Amino acid sequence: MTGLHKVLRVLALAAASASAFPAGIIPPIFQNPNVTGYEEFAISAGDIKAVFIPYGATLKANRWGQSRDIALGYDDPSTYANPTTHAPRIGSQIGRYADRLTNASFTLDGITYNTTVNLHPKDAPELNVTFHGGIGFDYRNFTVVAHTKDTLVLNYFSPDGEAGFPGDVDFYVSHHVKAPSTWTVKMWATVSKNTPLLPTSHIYLQLNGYNSSEPGMLDHVYYMNSKKYQGVDENLYFDGQIIPTTPGAPGDFTTPKRVADGFWDARLCGGGCIGYDSVFVYEPHTKTDVVASLWSPASGIRLDMSTDQDCVALYTCGELANNTAPAKAAHGGGFYSQYSCILFEQQGYGDAVHWPNFGVNEIYGPNRPYYSESTYKFSNIP
Ligand SMILES: *[C@@H]1O[C@H](CO)[C@@H](O)[C@H](O)[C@H]1NC(C)=O
Ligand SMILES: *[C@@H]1O[C@H](CO)[C@@H](O)[C@H](O)[C@H]1NC(C)=O
Ligand SMILES: *[C@@H]1O[C@H](CO)[C@@H](O)[C@H](O)[C@H]1NC(C)=O
Ligand SMILES: *[C@@H]1O[C@H](CO)[C@@H](O)[C@H](O)[C@H]1NC(C)=O
Ligand SMILES: *[C@@H]1O[C@H](CO)[C@@H](O)[C@H](O)[C@H]1NC(C)=O
Ligand SMILES: *[C@@H]1O[C@H](CO)[C@@H](O)[C@H](O)[C@H]1NC(C)=O
Ligand SMILES: *[C@@H]1O[C@H](CO)[C@@H](O)[C@H](O)[C@H]1NC(C)=O
Repeated sequence: MTGLHKVLRVLALAAASASAFPAGIIPPIFQNPNVTGYEEFAISAGDIKAVFIPYGATLKANRWGQSRDIALGYDDPSTYANPTTHAPRIGSQIGRYADRLTNASFTLDGITYNTTVNLHPKDAPELNVTFHGGIGFDYRNFTVVAHTKDTLVLNYFSPDGEAGFPGDVDFYVSHHVKAPSTWTVKMWATVSKNTPLLPTSHIYLQLNGYNSSEPGMLDHVYYMNSKKYQGVDENLYFDGQIIPTTPGAPGDFTTPKRVADGFWDARLCGGGCIGYDSVFVYEPHTKTDVVASLWSPASGIRLDMSTDQDCVALYTCGELANNTAPAKAAHGGGFYSQYSCILFEQQGYGDAVHWPNFGVNEIYGPNRPYYSESTYKFSNIP
């Protein structure tokens, strides 16, 4: 299926149908004790099909109109749980708190909480980091609470004290697709006492579906409505700075450009690395504005992203160098290679619990439930 005309026609139809699940807590309608963490749950509408497993609420595949599988993943679901192959968190739901939580501790309401240490920077092993929530949501088997043709709702109840964080967190994520090719991710949670939350999804993409006759991710074109990013030191510890992007510098995507342009000079990823592993701050926007777009001139697949979140963590797969992540057969088998993919984590500011100067509040409580939503709209470029 190609051609803008068809996309526009179907879009007009899709606009008439409302989303199946409004925000809010929905009662568990499907808690089947026989469901295993690795069972597949597919949703589809129009030209989009996505498959999830409850383990880590993980996206397994995402087929699009041209029958290209544009999301990275593992064919054997047990691979997601193997410590080595788990590490890139391919397709996972991240929580409670994404990114690097400096010193694996934070102070809230006069108490210093010590969270699970699961990362020591390579060059500074004495430093303690809680990465992506320690033993976080990505290690958990979610409960499927609703599954229809186009919607999947998953729940994980994280008890008070889990990974060192205070408060019970009753967390839900819903994945909804609608024709022609739109995917919406909503996350919400109620909490029993004040606690920081920064959940996000961890979806690695390659818009050619690793077709070997076509160039790789670096040849994709990227646009991002961002003019600043969070500063880090060489260990990727956030340093509390919000740094304006120099116009024309590698991290400036306000005018669409190939990811490759400036890539080898980009060092927005801590010390000794190339490319991007950075939290970019979007310009002011509404949840329906397109804040970032990615398209492949080769496959013609385009992705437009919108979100109610302030930031996006952009990662260009710099750590996939060492033959750790086996590629799907649909992606040619072998292993996913360094710089071959791109990851967008729609989220709030990283490590904001340590930096009041960011002016954001990532503490949720009994009177402040969490909610976020992000939309990924696929289409063809003419
Ligand atoms: C779980 O499996 C058992 C054994 O096959 C079956 O009897 C039971 O009905 C199943 N439960 C549900 C909720 O499907
Ligand atoms: C998740 O589910 C898988 C498959 O059923 C199972 O092997 C694994 O032990 C479960 N993990 C946890 C943390 O419950
Ligand atoms: C982390 O710990 C170091 C060493 O104790 C300290 O100097 C630094 O200020 C701490 N960082 C934050 C953000 O609390
Ligand atoms: C965290 O560790 C610090 C320093 O060891 C200690 O004072 C504090 O009581 C610990 N916090 C909790 C909640 O146990
Ligand atoms: C990291 O944790 C270890 C073990 O608890 C502790 O000895 C060390 O002082 C911590 N490092 C920093 C920089 O606080
Ligand atoms: C792979 O790419 C080539 C060149 O763009 C294209 O002709 C072919 O149809 C693609 N194959 C698949 C399976 O998408
Ligand atoms: C790959 O892993 C081996 C063994 O852990 C290590 O010696 C080597 O430096 C790694 N290579 C790269 C490029 O990371």
